[in-house]
Amino acid sequence: MLKNDLLLRVLNGRETERPPVWMMRQAGRYLPEYMKLRAKYDFFTRVQTPELACEITMQPVDQIGVDAAIIFSDILVIPQAMGMEVLMEEGKGPLLTHTIHTLKDIDALNIEGVEDRLSYVMKAIALTKKELNDSVPLIGFAGAPWTLLCYMVEGKGSKSFDKARQFCITQPGMAHALLQKITDITIPYLRAQIRAGADLVQVFDSWSGLLAPADFETFAQPYLLQILRALQQYAPVILFPKGSWYALPELSRSGVSAIGLDWCIDPGTARQMTENRVVLQGNFDPVKLLLPIPQIKTAVKEMIDAFGPHQYIANLGHGILPNVPVDHARAFVESVKEYSLVKS
Ligand code: CP3
Repeated sequence: MLKNDLLLRVLNGRETERPPVWMMRQAGRYLPEYMKLRAKYDFFTRVQTPELACEITMQPVDQIGVDAAIIFSDILVIPQAMGMEVLMEEGKGPLLTHTIHTLKDIDALNIEGVEDRLSYVMKAIALTKKELNDSVPLIGFAGAPWTLLCYMVEGKGSKSFDKARQFCITQPGMAHALLQKITDITIPYLRAQIRAGADLVQVFDSWSGLLAPADFETFAQPYLLQILRALQQYAPVILFPKGSWYALPELSRSGVSAIGLDWCIDPGTARQMTENRVVLQGNFDPVKLLLPIPQIKTAVKEMIDAFGPHQYIANLGHGILPNVPVDHARAFVESVKEYSLVKS
């Protein structure tokens, strides 16, 4: 039994004393202890060494007091497992050296044996579960098929992923073959994370908002729903289709445990669009963590009031920024924890 199971209770449809809180990218560059390890080991060494991944995962639990841990890893381990070379360039982000253009490229992708090829993730999860000692739940994760296609076709980060969108629009047959292959490796990967000890999983569709609503319905949603249907019997699933607010009515009918929101939709509208059918997660604009602490506290209280304290997981609308002072991140978490006290 977990000592703090607030997040799991909310995902299972129960009422809680206050909303649970965690932050996307909560283990990262705003933490001095992370920066110490970052100076010593390169990115994929940190990801691939279970002891380091575990230590980094624990940092925000110990120092910020979040209600859940999220395993330190990356969505790009899946393209790596499929045989693509992924580099993490200092100050530039990811670089995939050979991108996908042809059916031959897609055929060459290997989707067998993901549990073995990414065994370091499962080892990191098992180790972290032990280290957490039943204090808070552990979140596993993967990238959504569309978001992974973006990197696999474009080769690097981009503001609009034009090449990836062009690939889908001009070569839809190939795009679907690729999306299906990514889905077919992601399902056993997340299943293995759950078996290794992840209490729930989140699927990051960070770039779904770049798609027109009809294209989201074609290239993103069907694959998100396949993943959801394959996994929801084993653990709660949170979908984070960033920017795709238009899909809320449909996704809220899918049986998903929770939907993550970015800050571009206001809580009341999201509640209306989902008719209180589903748990919502989000959606504090990460730049607001740069405000003075008293203003952070007021803004967090307003956010919880707007969502309502139930069927709700407090989080940011996207990852925490590296320039956020640690005590501001802590103030965000504390403001949520104080919420019930503020109300009474
Ligand atoms: O949330 C957590 O604390 C868990 C760890 C986590 C990382 N990446 C570690 C990381 C998670 C959940 C991710 C997911 C991820 N990775 C996404 C989806 C979420 C999102 O933010 O949209 C995406 C698109 C990636 C791909 C990726 N990895 C990019 C674009 C970058 C470079 C940009 C950046 O933030 O520097 C990374 C590197 C990365 N992944 C870092 C961390 C902590 C920074 C590496 C460093 O310089 O230390």
